[in-house]
Amino acid sequence: MIRVGILGATGYTALELIRILIRHSEVEIGALTTRQSGRPAASSVHPSLAGKLDLPLEDLSPEQVIERCDCVFSCLPHAASAEVVKVLVDAGRRVIDFSADYRLNDAEVYQTWYGETHPDPERLGRVPYGLPELFASQISQAPLVANPGCYPTAVVLALAPLLAARLIHREGIILDAKTGVSGAGRTPKMVTIFPECNESIMPYNVGQHRHTPEIDQLLGQLAGAPVQAIFTPHLAPMDRGILTTAYTLPVGDTTETAAADALRDFYAEQPFVTVVDTLPATKHVSGTNHCHLAVRKVRDRLLVFSCIDNLLKGASGAAVQNFNWMFGFPEATALI
Ligand SMILES: NC(=O)c1ccc[n+]([C@@H]2O[C@H](COP(=O)([O-])OP(=O)(O)OC[C@H]3O[C@@H](n4cnc5c(N)ncnc54)[C@H](OP(=O)(O)O)[C@@H]3O)[C@@H](O)[C@H]2O)c1
Repeated sequence: MIRVGILGATGYTALELIRILIRHSEVEIGALTTRQSGRPAASSVHPSLAGKLDLPLEDLSPEQVIERCDCVFSCLPHAASAEVVKVLVDAGRRVIDFSADYRLNDAEVYQTWYGETHPDPERLGRVPYGLPELFASQISQAPLVANPGCYPTAVVLALAPLLAARLIHREGIILDAKTGVSGAGRTPKMVTIFPECNESIMPYNVGQHRHTPEIDQLLGQLAGAPVQAIFTPHLAPMDRGILTTAYTLPVGDTTETAAADALRDFYAEQPFVTVVDTLPATKHVSGTNHCHLAVRKVRDRLLVFSCIDNLLKGASGAAVQNFNWMFGFPEATALI
C-alpha cells in the first residue's frame, strides 16, 4: 500500500485526483493540505465526497507531509509548488507535480514566461515530462515527474508521431485551442464569473499563453529541430474539456490516410489514445482519461484534431497514469 499526499487539496484537479485514488486498490490517502485553518472535512470542501472519504484537510508543513507519505501529488500553483516539492524530493519522497515548475528545461525561459525566478533551477532538464505515451521508461524510474499542461497534452499527443516520422513540417504549425472554464482553476477570477463566460467564447492570452514554450519545447524535441507554433487558446462556455485543431503542412504527398495510420500505429499499444473515424468532441472523452484524435486533409493542409478532459488526461488522470508507472502498477489501474 502506497501512502499518498495531495497538496492544494481544495482545488479542482485535487478533487478529480481524490475521486480516482479512492478507487485505487494500492493507495491509502495520508495527507490532504490546504492553507485554511480549522481542519475542514474533505466533504465540506468537496460535497461530492460525502460518504466516500472521511478525512480532514490540514495546514501541514512539508516535514509533516514527509512523515505521513511515500508519494505526493502537488496540485499547487507554479512557484509555490517547487518551493515545497524540492523539500519533499530531497527527503526521498516521490512527487508528481501538476504545476509548470519542472516542465521547462531552462530557468531563463521559465523566468520570461512565468515572471518568477525559478525556486529550484538545478533540477530543470532532469525531470521527465509526464506523458507515458512518449516517456514511460524515464517516468518509471523517476523520483519527480512533471505532469504536463492540459493544452500541451492535447497538442503533443496529436503531433508528436507525425513530426517524429517527418510526415508534417515543423514550420508553419497553427494551433487553435478551446478549453472549458475549469482550466482556470477554482480560485475565482473576473473572466470565469458566470455572466462573463456563459454563452460567450473568446480568445485569451494571444501570443502570451504560458503553455507556448512548453509546446515548442516538446514539439522541437520530437522534430529534432526548433518549433515555434502559433498557439491561440479560447475560453469556451463549458465546465471541462479541451479541443485543439492543429493546422499543419504535410511533407511531400502525405495523405490523410497515411497520417491517420501513422497515429494509429504509434498508439496501437496505448490504452488512452484512440484515433477515431468520426470527428472528436469534448463530450466523447469527458470524465475519462482518454484522448481522441482525428485527421482531415483540407486543400494543402493536414488538420489534426485532439480532444481531452482537461481535468483528467490533462491533469489528474495523467498524474495517476504516471503514478502507476512509477510504482509498477498496471498503467490503467483506477482509470477509466
Ligand atoms: N485546472 C486544470 O485544468 C489544470 C490542468 C493541468 C494542470 N493544472 C495545474 O494544476 C495545479 C492545480 O490546478 P487547479 O485547477 O486544481 O487549481 P485550483 O482549483 O485553483 O486549486 C489550487 C489550490 O492550491 C492552493 N493554493 C493556491 N495558491 C497557493 C499558494 N500560493 N500557496 C499554497 N497553496 C496555494 C489552494 O488551496 P488553499 O487556498 O485551500 O490553500 C487551491 O485550492 C496548478 O498548478 C495548475 O496550473 C491545472
